[in-house]
Amino acid sequence: MSFILYRLNDLISATDEKELQSFLSSFKCSAEPAAEDFLNRVAIKHENNGISRTYLFVDRDDSGTDIIKGFSTIAFKCLTIDERHKIPETIFEQMNVDRGIAQAYLLGQLAKADGVEKGFGRKMINHSFDIFSKGNGMFGCRVVRLDCRDALIKYYESCGFTAAGKNQTGTLNHMIAII
Ligand SMILES: CC(C)(COP(=O)(O)OP(=O)(O)OC[C@H]1O[C@@H](n2cnc3c(N)ncnc32)[C@H](O)[C@@H]1OP(=O)(O)O)[C@@H](O)C(=O)NCCC(=O)NCCS
Repeated sequence: MSFILYRLNDLISATDEKELQSFLSSFKCSAEPAAEDFLNRVAIKHENNGISRTYLFVDRDDSGTDIIKGFSTIAFKCLTIDERHKIPETIFEQMNVDRGIAQAYLLGQLAKADGVEKGFGRKMINHSFDIFSKGNGMFGCRVVRLDCRDALIKYYESCGFTAAGKNQTGTLNHMIAII
């Protein structure tokens, strides 16, 4: 499970634009093509606009070529809490909800490349929590949120998240964890 961690922001400053674009395009995730698309077309724009920060988990093959094993993208995104929410009381109390809004860190993207070993996603989540914990130590905020389809609820629950309701269209589930 070895990897070298790159901040996309650092690569933007240090790498030729075309070379970086081609490196990002090499990432393949057939389970979630939208993640591939985000890395290809959106991640640099969001980085430059200060919307999110992307971290690349990179391995080097025998020929010395860097391979993107996975990536995570983190940001801030507050969460609206519906009055009819079913969040367990012990968690709700720690969310510092103010007028129906909880400030939250967002795990916006999480994807590993085709063929990468089971458990690597969890490793990337742990890394993201290390960053959120640093943010919490510097300027507060205890909630981490992400949005996922039904098929991934159990997985994220096994990673310490709790389901906090659906989005407005009912297509995604808000999952939350407390730092
Ligand atoms: C989510 C992810 C990072 C987890 O990686 P991991 O910790 O190494 O764990 P696994 O790959 O074993 O996935 C955990 C479980 O989720 C399931 N799963 C993963 N991605 C899925 C998807 N897009 N749709 C449905 N199920 C999915 C896996 O089949 C696995 O189920 P199992 O335990 O019954 O075998 C990785 O599976 C991945 O990159 N998936 C594609 C991208 C994605 O869907 N990201 C989540 C967006 S919210």
